[in-house]
Amino acid sequence: MPIRPARRITQTAPKDFGMFARAAGRPGDLIHLELGMPAEDTPQHIKDATIAALQGGAVHYSDLQGLPELRAALADKLNRRNRISVGAHEVLVTNGLTQASFAAFMAFLDAGDEVLLLEPYYPQHLGKAELAGARVVTAPLDAADGFAIRRALIEPRITARTRALVLVNPCNPTGRVYRRDELQVIADLAQAHDLLVLSDEVYEEITYDGAEHVSIASLPGMTERTISMFAFTKAYAMDGWRLGYLAADAALIGPLMKVTTNEVTHVNTFIQAGALAAVTGPPEVLAGMVARDRARRDLVVARLNQMPGVTCAPVEGTIYAFPDISGTRLRAQAAAEALLEKAGVVVEAGSFYGPAGAHHLRICFGCAEPDRLEEAMDRMQRFFNGL
Ligand SMILES: Cc1ncc(COP(=O)(O)O)c(C=O)c1O
Repeated sequence: MPIRPARRITQTAPKDFGMFARAAGRPGDLIHLELGMPAEDTPQHIKDATIAALQGGAVHYSDLQGLPELRAALADKLNRRNRISVGAHEVLVTNGLTQASFAAFMAFLDAGDEVLLLEPYYPQHLGKAELAGARVVTAPLDAADGFAIRRALIEPRITARTRALVLVNPCNPTGRVYRRDELQVIADLAQAHDLLVLSDEVYEEITYDGAEHVSIASLPGMTERTISMFAFTKAYAMDGWRLGYLAADAALIGPLMKVTTNEVTHVNTFIQAGALAAVTGPPEVLAGMVARDRARRDLVVARLNQMPGVTCAPVEGTIYAFPDISGTRLRAQAAAEALLEKAGVVVEAGSFYGPAGAHHLRICFGCAEPDRLEEAMDRMQRFFNGL
């Protein structure tokens, strides 16, 4: 008899890796714009601090919650920048945002609980909610309205079983940076319906043209019902390091640690020295990386808007453009597959993020150098001209 996997594996939908999986191993000169993998290198001072810690013997087990000096620095940053009032005892260092959200879903959801995702959503959240046994309910936002948060689109989806709402701000894939009044809608609903908010702020540092990133936990009454999740992944180009953190009220940290300590004990000790260097390091480094992302964004958004049938809204934050291709008459998946086959450009179909993205493509401009982005845009232009 074959060994039978657990029901939590067999009874959840298989994970679709989208165009990344379809393009994998293909020969030829493909330009990969499907994954949110920064083109930049990790800044040198972060590497240096990590190497020094490794050479200095930081190779043993350490604090289960994260190095105390790192948590203190993160608490300082959270109070100052995010206006989230937490102490070092309310910070948990994690293996990327992925592990933070996994811990949150596992610690706070029971089988049959409902989790509300704003759509377009980040698919990993769906997979993890399902692994935790929860039922995912989506609240599609309106493309014509810039995928803004509107109470009328969300409240009807809340039932007596809804336990949590997931927010991604700035939003992958739409590139929207939610305004304070939009966040207030979520805060009001969370308080009225006694919901936990899982706030994915992995792109908090990557905003453009003065768009202000507001952490929902900074709104009145929200600190105690929000798990705010961050990572070094995108802004510091540390995706392979697997390093993130969360902030939550002291009462929530115990349940979260029950998951993380059983899962991984704690995060690698010496890379936490790199995290400390990142969070206490010169702000110009971060500003330089964001400035280069802004230039990439300007290039891609301008070029997309020159393509027939394609309209790209301004990107307020993140490293993604989310153009509407309804004028081409192609559906998102068909367009993404044709771009792979005929143009050698790999982009993600908007439908990967739920049906609300059926007429969009998601294009990562943060993952390639400007000359490759130009080449990708030339290829896409030729493809759309030829339809
Ligand atoms: C919205 C969102 N959340 C989480 C992640 C994963 O973050 P990490 O690599 O820190 O686990 C990503 C990566 O693309 C993302 O876009």
